[in-house]
This record gives sequence, structure tokens and C-alpha cells, in this order.
Amino acid sequence: MADRGYFTRKLGGDKVFSVEAPKIKFGNGVLNELGEDAKSLGMRRVAVFTDRIVAEQESLTIAVNSLEKAGMECEIYDEVEVEPTDRSFKAGSRFASEGKFDGFVSVGGGSVMDTCKASNLYSCFPSEFLDYVNAPIGKAKPVPGPLKPHIACPTTFGTASECTGIAIFDLLEMEAKTGIVSPRLRPDLGLLDPLSLKTLHPMIRAANAFDVFSHACESLTARPFTHRQAPDHPSRRPLSQGANPYSDIACLEAIQLVGENLIQAVHDPEDENLEALMFAGMLAGIGFGNAGCHLPHGMSYAVAGLCKDYQPDGWSSDHALVPHGISVIVNSPAVFRFTGSACEERHFQAAKAMGAETQGASMEDGGSLLANQLIKMMKDTGIPNGLQGVGYGRDDLEDLTERSYAQKRLIDNAPCPVSREQMKELFENSLSYW
Ligand SMILES: NC(=O)c1ccc[n+]([C@@H]2O[C@H](COP(=O)([O-])OP(=O)(O)OC[C@H]3O[C@@H](n4cnc5c(N)ncnc54)[C@H](O)[C@@H]3O)[C@@H](O)[C@H]2O)c1
Ligand SMILES: [Fe+2]
Repeated sequence: MADRGYFTRKLGGDKVFSVEAPKIKFGNGVLNELGEDAKSLGMRRVAVFTDRIVAEQESLTIAVNSLEKAGMECEIYDEVEVEPTDRSFKAGSRFASEGKFDGFVSVGGGSVMDTCKASNLYSCFPSEFLDYVNAPIGKAKPVPGPLKPHIACPTTFGTASECTGIAIFDLLEMEAKTGIVSPRLRPDLGLLDPLSLKTLHPMIRAANAFDVFSHACESLTARPFTHRQAPDHPSRRPLSQGANPYSDIACLEAIQLVGENLIQAVHDPEDENLEALMFAGMLAGIGFGNAGCHLPHGMSYAVAGLCKDYQPDGWSSDHALVPHGISVIVNSPAVFRFTGSACEERHFQAAKAMGAETQGASMEDGGSLLANQLIKMMKDTGIPNGLQGVGYGRDDLEDLTERSYAQKRLIDNAPCPVSREQMKELFENSLSYW
């Protein structure tokens, strides 16, 4: 159990934490139950969102067969862009509006689930595109009412998008990632079938597993919920409420599962490894859905958004991109070395759960132990060597800092204050690790 002493009282700080629990079904073969679940949510005419690669996989066939067997009329949309942009969200929304559907199913990774959430939103409540997008880039207009039912069927295990009310995209005109956040975007049900993961490329498995680790570890080491200003109205308590006793339980278990399964799942996966990682992804999703991420994710949006020419192995896209899990983990060792002193015990526990040798080490080494263990595991799984490994150099530090420092929600959730200068140093320290 994570240290409870972390939740010290602070004048004006919140005394309450809330628990949002997604509705999930988990297990080998659960995708066969999709049709009956769709029926019980009142669906008849269903938009099935996927991408071109997943459209060729058995998972999509199983999903569509199950829907049709339960009497659904299905129309498949397979034009989702991997690492979606506003262009892709808008195209999906047009498809959703024109098709007069009464329900949505997404079969794919975070890119597919997020595009489906946004398409459901804009088809139910048409608006200028930037109206619902996070401030200050957009107007952060609240979603006016409930959306149509959505069942999310992930075929990756990193994003936990099936658990969250978040849809992330790349805003092309700003070269920056941003998102739409509302509890109303959360899918009504997530069907997590570990059998869907068997066809994933090893690098996608690695990127996903590091994304899971990051969600869990950032939530575990986030500022305690008691140190965030109490809201002036209960409805204004944010989703990113900071570390709390509920998310701690899910996060520590998720880190342990990643530590035990990551290396084998990349090189020579057994069914048990994939099952464990998908469960870890779900737990981490519950963790960050209630606590929120901080610096590695806050910095990752600039790393992904400013990408010049990096083309990773394993991703189907024909344009340059830094996949999400990689854009996060390249920052993580530098960040956790820096945040270590703000909550030593939590960093120490995370390092131990990831498999670091802790005998003879003291609690105050927590940050460095964790950073060193991550670097070792990144090397062992073929992750690029820091920012230089994905095409950045010293000349990019200013731009990376400029864009990341605008991610206030995430930066404020770090366990210690971070100045603009310190953030630039973090990017500098992320340039290369070995
Ligand atoms: N909504 C959220 O809460 C949230 C959280 C984190 C990340 N994200 C977003 O999710 C996106 C990344 O999602 P992702 O990491 O799940 O990957 P992805 O959806 O981008 O898919 C990665 C690649 O794997 C392929 N693929 C997917 N499933 C497969 C399978 N079973 N077999 C073979 N190939 C398969 C896809 O076609 C694609 O080429 C990013 O846009 C990121 O910003 C969202
Ligand atoms: Fe993530």
C-alpha cells in the first residue's frame, strides 16, 4: 500500500476525493458478447469505428459478427487516422452525422476510440470544432447533454481510453496535441479482450506498456488531492484531482504488473503476459482517470506535436510521428529523477515494483533508482534513446518548452512546482540516456 502520510492537510486544500469507475468487462473471448451488450444499450443501427489495419484483424470480424447476430445493422468506418488529427476527427464526425446511427462501437486502439468519442459528440451536438476543445486552445464549452451509447473494444492496451472521458488529437495548425475532456465522452462500456492483443507489433507492445507505467506512476506521484485548492462548488472538482487513496491502489498494482511482464511481452509473449498487461492498462486507466497525469505526459504533447521526420517501426502511418507511449517515456527518467525528492517513498515503491534492485538503497534514492531502472528497460525493449532518438536536438529545447509550459492542468498536478527554466532543463536532461 502506498504511504498514507502523503495526504497531509493544507490550508484551503480539498478534503474530499471522488471515485469515478468505468463500466468494464474483461476476459478472453468477451468480444463475442458485444452484440447482446449493444442490444441492451438500445442500439439498432450501429457505426463501427476502426482503422485500416484493425479492419483486417479477426477482432473486427468477431465484433461485427456478434453485432449482426444480435440483429444490429452495422456500417463500418475504417478511415480513422493513427494518432488522429483534427482533420480525422472532423471526417469521422461527418460520417457519424450523415449515418443517422443510434449507437457507436469502436474496435481499435486509442486513435480509434478517441475518434469515435469525438464523432459521437459532434454528431449529437454540432458546434464549431474548437468550442469543446480544452482551453486555452479551444473554448472548453461543456458538453450540453448525454451522447449516444458507445461501447469501446480496445485492441491495444496502453491508453485506457475505454475508461476515460478524454479524446486526444493533433491540432494541425498549431502542431500541438490537445484534447476534449468531459465525463460525457466516457464510453458506456469497455470490452477488454486480451486475445485481441496477439497481433500487435513488438514495438507497439513496448510503447503501450510504457504508457501504462507512465499513467500509473504519474498518478501515484501526483500532488496529493489535499494540496489542491478545494473547489468553490462541488461540480468544479476536477477529474485530475491528484493522488488519492483509491487511485494509489490501482496504480501500484499496475506498475507491479508492468514490471513483471513488460520484457517478456515484447520479446516472446505468452497469453498470460498479454492478459496481465491489459489488466494493468485498465487499472492504470482507473488510476489516472481519478488522479491525473503530470510532467511526462505534459511534455509528451510537444514531443509528438513538433515531430519532424521520425518514422517508427511497427506503426501503419505513412507520415512522421512519435507514437504516444514513446513520446511519454523519453521524458520519464529525467522527470522522475527530478520529482524524486518531492515524494521519495512513492518513487522508491515504483522502482521496486518495476524490478529495480533496492537492497542497500535508501528511500531518498527513489527517484534515481526508478530513472535507472526505466533506462535499463527502455534499452532492453528497443525504445529510442531519449529525445535525440526521435529526432530532436539542442536547438529544439526552447520550442519544446514553450509548448509544454502551456499544459497547465498537467504541470500543476506534479508533486512540486516547476518553473519554465526547470522544464527546459528537464528536456535537456531527456536528450539522451546512454
Ligand atoms: N483518450 C485517452 O484517455 C488517451 C490516453 C492516452 C493516449 N491517447 C491517445 O491514443 C492514441 C494512441 O493509441 P494506441 O497507443 O492505442 O495506438 P493506436 O490506436 O494509434 O494504434 C497503433 C498502431 O497499432 C495498430 N493496431 C491496433 N490494434 C492492433 C492489433 N490488435 N493488431 C495489430 N495492429 C494493431 C494500429 O493500426 C496502429 O497502426 C494517441 O493519439 C494518444 O494521444 C488517448
Ligand atoms: Fe498516455
